[in-house]
Amino acid sequence: MFENIKNLFPVFEKNPNLVFLDTAASALKPKEMIDATNNCYSYEYANVHRGLYSLSSNLTKKFENTRIQVSDFISSHSEENIIFTKSATEGINLVVDKFSEKYLSEGDEVLISYLEHHANIVPWHIAAKKYKFKVVPIILNEVGEIDYNDFNDKINSRTKFISLAHMSNVTGSITDFEIIKKRIKGLNIPMMIDGCQFIAHSKLNVLELDCDFYVFSGHKIYGPSGVGVLYMKDKWLEIFNPYQGGGSMIDTVEIENTKFAKGFQKFEAGTPPIAQVIGLGASINFVNKIGLKDIFNYEKELHDYTLEKLSFDDDVLIYGKSLNKGAIISFNINGIHANDLAMFLDQKNIAVRTGHHCCQPLMKYLKITSTARASFGIYNNKDDADLFVSSVFEAKKFFI
Ligand code: ALA
Repeated sequence: MFENIKNLFPVFEKNPNLVFLDTAASALKPKEMIDATNNCYSYEYANVHRGLYSLSSNLTKKFENTRIQVSDFISSHSEENIIFTKSATEGINLVVDKFSEKYLSEGDEVLISYLEHHANIVPWHIAAKKYKFKVVPIILNEVGEIDYNDFNDKINSRTKFISLAHMSNVTGSITDFEIIKKRIKGLNIPMMIDGCQFIAHSKLNVLELDCDFYVFSGHKIYGPSGVGVLYMKDKWLEIFNPYQGGGSMIDTVEIENTKFAKGFQKFEAGTPPIAQVIGLGASINFVNKIGLKDIFNYEKELHDYTLEKLSFDDDVLIYGKSLNKGAIISFNINGIHANDLAMFLDQKNIAVRTGHHCCQPLMKYLKITSTARASFGIYNNKDDADLFVSSVFEAKKFFI
């Protein structure tokens, strides 16, 4: 299955030697998803949830079927728990905003970790300023996972919310929510999981995770940009006020007052990302056909193969050595700035991300300012890994 997979991604027709190792930032797009989006705009397009004519009602059906598809994909018990947003970031902001306004005040604590992306830090900072609660970070262990002992210690009667990444976009470590769940059992502390990095690489079951909220973005799972998913447990659909006002999220509007719609509809103001949702459906189909179990194993093997070769050299500093991790390798070469390395690799048509990866607190924690990062997707293979590794060592010779 994976041998000819590059043929399914049009970018390789024009650029056959591209070694794309930046899937953690955004995945390349398969033809199947692009065609579904094109088809939607070309032949199926009308606004959804509004028209009584066939074009609109047919697309509305397809749009709502995608909600069912997403629900099945993440093993939610109902599509009613799926909210379409414009991004994972918007989903997090929605939850932070609505939860904080109702439940958080001076003396309360929200637990995050040093692994978090800015998207799971900054919204909390904004709300903390307004409602005077404290944002408490969990430290990391030596292999780049959250330190579960520190997590244990930091849970207390003031802890009102836990918001953690499922998989780090820097160290690649996958958080063990069985440990987290055990520790908070019976404490009634709601939990949000940022699944942006996890979603395209491993099977997700939100019911098993027992989280209150789960977010991910479409573009990281071979889908379009401009669409995100927020899974929300029933209870919060009822309790939360709307995040934005506008069309579609109402029951009735009088000039003085509005009665809001119920359920997910209350959180989907305005025309939704229609073609993006259709594209997301196609990308989920695409991933399902390959199978997430095989995807995880394939990418993991590539990761282990690459890591082993890189690790031969003591000048290669690896950040994140968890045994429970996805296919992300963040590293630096002693004496070379990550940006110089990236530019050298670009000359060889190898794409990696460098910088702080929207994780400045993590960089500070690791006492560095940036890393280079190779992140794998289903279109990578051993030839990619070999060229990447030999080019890294060539860069070392060139710069040092
Ligand atoms: N969060 C994305 C990354 O890690 C953009 O690159």
